[in-house]
Amino acid sequence: MSALELDAVAKRYTTGGEVVCAVDGASLTIAPGEVVALYGPSGSGKTTLLELAAGTQRPDHGSVRFGGVDLATLSAGEAARYRRSLGFVFQRFYLHPGTSALDNAAMKLLFAGWAPRRAKQQALTWLRRVGLEQRAGHPPSKLSMGEQQRVVIARALAGEPALILADEPTASLDTERGRAILSLLAGICRERRVGMLLATHDPDAAAFADRVCDLRDGLLTERADHRPAAAPAPART
Ligand SMILES: Nc1ncnc2c1ncn2[C@@H]1O[C@H](COP(=O)(O)OP(=O)(O)OP(=O)(O)O)[C@@H](O)[C@H]1O
Ligand SMILES: [Mg+2]
Repeated sequence: MSALELDAVAKRYTTGGEVVCAVDGASLTIAPGEVVALYGPSGSGKTTLLELAAGTQRPDHGSVRFGGVDLATLSAGEAARYRRSLGFVFQRFYLHPGTSALDNAAMKLLFAGWAPRRAKQQALTWLRRVGLEQRAGHPPSKLSMGEQQRVVIARALAGEPALILADEPTASLDTERGRAILSLLAGICRERRVGMLLATHDPDAAAFADRVCDLRDGLLTERADHRPAAAPAPART
């Protein structure tokens, strides 16, 4: 497994002559199995930093490396392969409404060319792991918000991602369900040795991370005194 390394990364946007420095010289390394929170208010640069990590945005300065390889040196095909190797968990679920939880969880594998039977077996393993085996045949519209987010997590993990990028993954959930989802996700990342970059403006969410980086106006500062929260009691999601 490989580490993600951001080295003095900066990203500016210019809109109508106005320049916004969305990320301003951020340096950060995420080792395999490490959960790192990006904590900051709206507009502080969290999503931009995730996009830089995913290679969907290019930094104006500095470098983003994964497994020692600078993303800027990748060909279009290699960059697409890198993105496919990532697991994305966002606030909006982007689940396919017309098909079952199982098909949704298997979708990434089917796109990657897995045989349908094998893809569904793998997806079912992950639905079981997130406690949704009994709902495998239900479409997203028949699932609670927490259950839908667990399908997203199963979909992300079924592809055995090299790294998880999570953008406000609990923003649609109430506090208790959000905590249960994050505890599950962080636990799986540590167990499977998958790194996770978790953008959030929720202090509860940041508490689940091994490390917390505060973002203010694109400036990143790591908290020296952070201690991860103990896992909460299992809760229904
Ligand atoms: N495509 C873009 N073009 C121009 N400016 C942008 C673009 N994307 C983001 N910005 C600006 O960059 C800054 C950082 O935005 P970003 O979306 O990274 O923040 P965020 O921390 O994810 O916010 P939120 O918590 O609201 O999702 C903001 O000032 C935003 O207006
Ligand atoms: Mg954002």
